[in-house]
Amino acid sequence: MFSRSITALALSLVPALVAAQKESVTEVATSIANTTLQMQAVGLIPDPVPTSALNLTAALGLRFGEGSRDIATGQTVSVDQAKGTPQYSIEYPESVADELDGATFTVLFLDAGAAGVGNPALLDGLLTRHFLGNNFKLGDDGRLTNSTPAITEYASPAPAAGSGPHRYFQVVALQPSNFQAPQNLSQPGTALSTMSLASYISESNLGKIVAASFVLIEDNSAEVTASVSSTAAVQSASVQALATSVSKSLASPSGAPSASGTGTSGNGAAYVAPTKALVASAAAVAAVAFGAALI
Ligand SMILES: *[C@@H]1O[C@H](CO)[C@@H](O)[C@H](O)[C@H]1NC(C)=O
Ligand SMILES: *[C@@H]1O[C@H](CO)[C@@H](O)[C@H](O)[C@H]1NC(C)=O
Ligand SMILES: *[C@@H]1O[C@H](CO)[C@@H](O)[C@H](O)[C@H]1NC(C)=O
Repeated sequence: MFSRSITALALSLVPALVAAQKESVTEVATSIANTTLQMQAVGLIPDPVPTSALNLTAALGLRFGEGSRDIATGQTVSVDQAKGTPQYSIEYPESVADELDGATFTVLFLDAGAAGVGNPALLDGLLTRHFLGNNFKLGDDGRLTNSTPAITEYASPAPAAGSGPHRYFQVVALQPSNFQAPQNLSQPGTALSTMSLASYISESNLGKIVAASFVLIEDNSAEVTASVSSTAAVQSASVQALATSVSKSLASPSGAPSASGTGTSGNGAAYVAPTKALVASAAAVAAVAFGAALI
């Protein structure tokens, strides 16, 4: 009786776990749209995360520590909660499985400081690297595990007291076979320091970012004195509108007219840097990010 119910439970769980990684196009598109708009709203896209580096085709799952709860994009996380080692997983539709199943990935966890002021290093476009790992592989359950020691082991966030809610973002990028780690970020045990994401991508031939997320972490034990921009929530109607166009490009990924036809390894030559005015039109910028049919 006991063992039979265990078996029944196991049988009912297995298909769910195996299927977890292949989500419906609509679900993934909605998550991608929501994440993109939130990352634009808090000033992460298009700088320091360049639009040309993005080809979001998967939803990123983030947890701090084994067995902990999923963290939603944009969620406020306490310094204590973020002490657990991040666990990453991705969910994507069958239509992009050819590109993601069996791929190798690079994962980064970077601090872009507080919106508006940033940290001093941000003046030079620099981010604080809290984790960098190459050679991540995807398991059947959608979890990403690194097959080699991390370059920078996870250093849990410790934002300065009173410096506002820092934007800690995570990116999962395709790591092509011609990937070559920049010399200064090629050795395991490289300590936390600042870096430019854009330079890292271009120097290493890193592929497109396929999944991204961010959390807000603040040490509010002192009053915020700097002028920190508010991080407004995104409108549900905007998410739905963008999700519709993302759905189309996810459903027929290679059919979409995009920079993918240029044969460049990542930095689509057809891409034109958005101006501040264009950034105001979130959906337009985001459409470029997916090479969406609606440009
Ligand atoms: C190391 O390389 C990264 C990526 O190319 C770069 O952004 C960073 O400034 C470099 N750091 C140092 C200390 O040279
Ligand atoms: C967007 O995602 C956030 C969590 O990251 C969630 O609270 C919100 O309801 C989502 N909005 C829409 C319109 O799906
Ligand atoms: C974006 O991803 C899709 C699905 O994996 C792929 O077909 C397309 O070529 C990619 N586009 C670029 C510009 O990398």
